[in-house]
Amino acid sequence: MTQTLTITRPDDWHLHLRDGAMLEGILPETTRDFGRAIVMPNLVPPVVTAKDAEAYRARIMAAIPEGADFTPLMTLYLTETTDADDVAAAYASGLISAVKLYPAGATTNSDSGVTNFDNVQGVLERMSEIDLPLCVHSEVTDPSVDIFDREAVFIDRVLDPVRRRVPELRVVMEHITTADGVAYVMSQDERLGATITTHHLIINRNDLLVGGIKPHYYCLPIAKREEHRLALVEAATSGDARFFLGTDSAPHSDPNKESACGCAGVFSATNTMSCLAHVFERAGALDKLEGFASLHGPAFYGLAPNVGKTTLTKQAKAVTFPDKIHTGAGDVTVFNPGFPLNWTTS
Ligand code: NCD
Ligand code: ZN
Repeated sequence: MTQTLTITRPDDWHLHLRDGAMLEGILPETTRDFGRAIVMPNLVPPVVTAKDAEAYRARIMAAIPEGADFTPLMTLYLTETTDADDVAAAYASGLISAVKLYPAGATTNSDSGVTNFDNVQGVLERMSEIDLPLCVHSEVTDPSVDIFDREAVFIDRVLDPVRRRVPELRVVMEHITTADGVAYVMSQDERLGATITTHHLIINRNDLLVGGIKPHYYCLPIAKREEHRLALVEAATSGDARFFLGTDSAPHSDPNKESACGCAGVFSATNTMSCLAHVFERAGALDKLEGFASLHGPAFYGLAPNVGKTTLTKQAKAVTFPDKIHTGAGDVTVFNPGFPLNWTTS
């Protein structure tokens, strides 16, 4: 018995594409199933100015497989010296779709992020005036705060104060991982949205740590307790337009993951839609998948949904995805959801 579901072609509202040989190797994994993606600017060095974003965009365009229907949506990396005029011009010209805020030191390549929020107040006010969204990596970096509490503490210490200082600014709380994140978003108006990753809908911290450490499940924000995963599934499958898909697919080569000090990042571009269909079906909410993956994100960003369609087909026999993507920058392990996948996309 096959079952099919046709939805508007999805988008990915939080994605790491990297650069060079890694970009070339992994980009086809995204362009297969996604029409657009918000591309994270945390390269080394980061994408800070409009000029940087223009050059990076050209490198991405050059790597798109022939015939693929894909548009990268660029972002700028907010620093304490970011020039508001440069940001505004980049938005006005259509070059960028968002600005990304990393608290300094929060995650991979975030050393140039923000420490003193007074120094970015001017840029945030300008963004609010021109209605340019701010994407926020929502974790504090205070070493005294436990890694599992960093998102909840960030809401109180940083996110809520910033939103009060610039109340009209549209903000995406990215890759939320806690019931606290869900509750905060639900308590606010529609100027606050949140992305949820594929892997945080599937794994909890036991999957990461019990029975041996699983480096390919290590990402930031780190997976939390099961009760938090359940809250994320409930939010994603609720149909609430404030929650939308951002895979946070973040490739690192296997040696960089399987190391005494392994990098944070889960690579899920290859099988995300299959995993999501499984999660939504299990929640009895397949009818909510299109909103989450294809409609809520464009609505938040003020864009039309994609014109193309994607058909998800469920087959009785499990589908095999590659375990690894071979790139010129090394092998990248594909997210293993820990259960057989039966859905394919076409
Ligand atoms: C991301 C990366 O590798 O760039 N890693 C991750 O665990 N998500 C950075 C990020 O988005 O936090
Ligand atoms: Zn990310």
